[in-house]
Amino acid sequence: MKIESRRKIVAGNWKMNLDLTEAAEWLAEVDAGLRSDKCDVLVFPSFIFLGDLMDMYEGEQILFGAQNCSNKESGAYTGEVSAAQLASVGVEYVIVGHSERREHFGETNQMLKEKIQRALKNEITPIFCCGEPLEVRNANKQLEYVKQQLEESLLGFSAAAIAEIIVAYEPVWAIGTGLNATPEQAQEMHAFIRAEIAAKYSPDIAAQVPILYGGSCKPDNAKALFSCADVDGGLIGGASLNAKDFLKIIQAV
Ligand code: PGA
Repeated sequence: MKIESRRKIVAGNWKMNLDLTEAAEWLAEVDAGLRSDKCDVLVFPSFIFLGDLMDMYEGEQILFGAQNCSNKESGAYTGEVSAAQLASVGVEYVIVGHSERREHFGETNQMLKEKIQRALKNEITPIFCCGEPLEVRNANKQLEYVKQQLEESLLGFSAAAIAEIIVAYEPVWAIGTGLNATPEQAQEMHAFIRAEIAAKYSPDIAAQVPILYGGSCKPDNAKALFSCADVDGGLIGGASLNAKDFLKIIQAV
């Protein structure tokens, strides 16, 4: 596997946090603290700040993405934001299928497939999130569960499309709980996801797809998680809100 050529990524998902002033301060602090080009650094602010922050940011080290996009193309969908609208302001990444969207906003695997389609059509890279809830982990059915998420949302796309995407494994029981997956649990699932992609497409394509870990990833556990062969970085929630913690996690790559 051409592991050395796979992108390493640390992405900050701010969720519904930070106001414009705090976001601008965060950007300045993280930009000033970045020391290495070992990994790509992505940040996902709320929709309302995306255009402003991208205009305001004069550096080149931080890339911007949206936390969500609509599964519809355009039209009478009050409150929604389309992939084409995101592309029109220069957004190049979008999180699709975060467990909070699945849980609180009823997003189904079919809807997520449509979102991925819209994103790719507008040349936006989807970060597809998958991961099992606690009861599934307790029943030791996590591999089957994630396999179904992959099959119903992701694995129907062309090989060329799959080569463009990023996957994030985010066990629901680890998100915002302070209880991270162990490196062994993360590695097992990441290797499984990569094997599923290899079986459906090819080992070469699977070797290129970055698979990020998310769920209570913090400065003190990031290094152990990122050292796993199939973990290519992280999607960071809570710890991304603090610029210093986020920088420490980046340094762990
Ligand atoms: P957390 O969130 O780091 O706060 O657990 C991760 C995520 O939801 O992407």
